[in-house]
Amino acid sequence: MPELMDTIISLAKRRGFIFASSEIYGGINGFWDYGPVGVELKRNIKEFWWKEMVLSRDDIVGVDTSIICHPQTWVASGHVASFADPMTDCRECKKRFRADDVEGKTCPSCGGQLTEARQFNLMFQTHVGAAVDAAAAAYLRPETCQSIFTNFKTIQITSRQKIPFGIAQIGKSFRNEITPRNFIFRSREFEQMEMEFFIRPDPKEGETWYRTWIERRHQWFLDIGVRKEKLRLRPHRPDELAHYAKGCTDVEYEFPFGWSELEGIANRGNYDLSQHAKFSGKDLSYFDEVAKEKYIPGVVETSVGVDRTLLTVLVDAFVEEAAPTADGESETRTVMKFHPRLAPYKAAVFPLVRKLSEPALKLAKDMSANFPTDFDDGSSIGKRYRRHDEIGTPFCITYDHQSGEDQKVTIRERDSMKQERIALDQVIRYVGDKLV
Ligand code: GAP
Repeated sequence: MPELMDTIISLAKRRGFIFASSEIYGGINGFWDYGPVGVELKRNIKEFWWKEMVLSRDDIVGVDTSIICHPQTWVASGHVASFADPMTDCRECKKRFRADDVEGKTCPSCGGQLTEARQFNLMFQTHVGAAVDAAAAAYLRPETCQSIFTNFKTIQITSRQKIPFGIAQIGKSFRNEITPRNFIFRSREFEQMEMEFFIRPDPKEGETWYRTWIERRHQWFLDIGVRKEKLRLRPHRPDELAHYAKGCTDVEYEFPFGWSELEGIANRGNYDLSQHAKFSGKDLSYFDEVAKEKYIPGVVETSVGVDRTLLTVLVDAFVEEAAPTADGESETRTVMKFHPRLAPYKAAVFPLVRKLSEPALKLAKDMSANFPTDFDDGSSIGKRYRRHDEIGTPFCITYDHQSGEDQKVTIRERDSMKQERIALDQVIRYVGDKLV
């Protein structure tokens, strides 16, 4: 269903969710900008993750580490040697492909001959300081978790956490993907939400936490309103696993372009901390006061892309359905049925006509102090409903000629389109109650 992706991409642009980066210069492949409603949706996704993974738990702490870190980090992690995809070029049309995306030796675009596949490292390189030489080379991080490992000891000591405990981070990552595609699904700059849960390096304990985190993370997608039947868990085959990994399961979503990875949950053993201990020469072991033993902790990781989650939410919430018009006809309306927690605006206030703007604006301001509320006095009521359906606003409130007299407004619920007349002084409570 590629047309559905096109429809969503076009809506995302038209309504201010997402547009191509530096579009006036023709855009830059693999980079995207979030507009006024997109940024709110993104913030809500991150906030909800942070609440669930950090604020609501006393065994996980958060960090915010630098994007560029010591280049040895990426030697120890294995990224310098092997964070690469096989790449092939067409000798005729010069198009470039990931070799594992094409079958055979002919170009999927023009039928020309393809070059031999060669490895292409996905890390973006830069230079730190004035000199542009090999000694000054550094990388934009391709994942956020490595600095959780390198800072493990300091964070453990300063937070006074005892094993088992986790460290979480939300931040930008960069990968020079050979073929960025499917809108924000695979881009070159994106955000990750990662959590490393440190445990005793005991196989049974590893398995228990691995199962626990698979279940929790699956549930999180249901909690943000993603349809159950569109989600599945896919354990990796042994030949897909890194040599040190004890297990890895992807949460997958059925996108219009097929089932694809949304999040990975991995039982990584104690490979990461052991590597950094070896390369830095620092002791990254932990003394377990309960077990009276010293060990390098094992880790279970949960790693999800913010942008990929946002694409999931856009696809999953998108509905086209028949709706009655004011004069009794039927039309197709497009509505983003976001979970109210994620909706960029929780409510919108419309004066029926411009001369009612003043009291309507006062209502919108009072509401804004409680939750994000838009005020819209432009165009026809029908157009205003259409816009707010397309940006997923759960409640639209109309202040009409009656409102001054009876101190009531009409509230329309996004999904059912049911309208109710309620007292002005009840509006904040009415909407607020439905947002939890
Ligand atoms: N630390 C483990 C790690 O980074 P990964 O499977 O490479 O594992 C984790 O990435 C998640 O990050 C993916 O499931 C996806 O949601 C997101 N992600 C990875 N590459 C991405 C890209 N190029 N564009 C958007 N999101 C990406």
